[in-house]
Amino acid sequence: MTGFGGPVVPQLRDAVRGLLDAHPDGVLPIVQAGHPVLRTATTAYTGQLGDVLEDLLDAMVTTMRAAPGVGLAAPQIGVGLALAVLEDPGFPDGHDGARDAREREPLPLRVLVNPSYEPVGDERVTFYEGCLSVDGYQATVARHRSVRVRGSDASAAPVDEIVRGWSARIVQHETDHLGGTLYIDRAETRSLCATATYAALWSDEAVPERAARTLGFPIEVAGSDPGRTSIHP
Ligand code: CO
Repeated sequence: MTGFGGPVVPQLRDAVRGLLDAHPDGVLPIVQAGHPVLRTATTAYTGQLGDVLEDLLDAMVTTMRAAPGVGLAAPQIGVGLALAVLEDPGFPDGHDGARDAREREPLPLRVLVNPSYEPVGDERVTFYEGCLSVDGYQATVARHRSVRVRGSDASAAPVDEIVRGWSARIVQHETDHLGGTLYIDRAETRSLCATATYAALWSDEAVPERAARTLGFPIEVAGSDPGRTSIHP
């Protein structure tokens, strides 16, 4: 694990080493909303962790998969560095409508270091999402359908990529974490559902149109003019 030229910060490296040693199975506790670390912009990663970086990223992947989730940002395990891991196996078979509406294709495991994103085009699409740090709830967020993500990978090689659909949503959600933003900041508050209620009432919808009409919130739909097709009950 080389390539980041900055100096190791022994105090930070040792603190992360201690966190990892306290959880030898690699499953780290996930910080919940209300903790300041989730509301603090992270520090760019420049090499502060030295050879502990690789072990931290391994534990973040283990923690993400155990949750299970499709992304995990370092603040969610209490570390204020601009690191995130992403991986989405895609939709299970038999949910083709929901998969197609979300453009949810499998996203192979990747590490993002110091990522930023910008929209590609002006389309936004609304779907329900959740967060491991806001346990028990789901809400809709209108996000860019496609974004350009730039940063680096775990070996400091540059990343510059255009992603679309559900992968773009994951990139936006995780990158937002690194700036101290949670999805609830961007959510339609009237869409908020307890996860069990979401599963019972709305999870079968390919696009949350019935939820929008019934609960009373606007949505944006791919390929449409938001001003014309947003649903305002
Ligand atoms: Co999250």
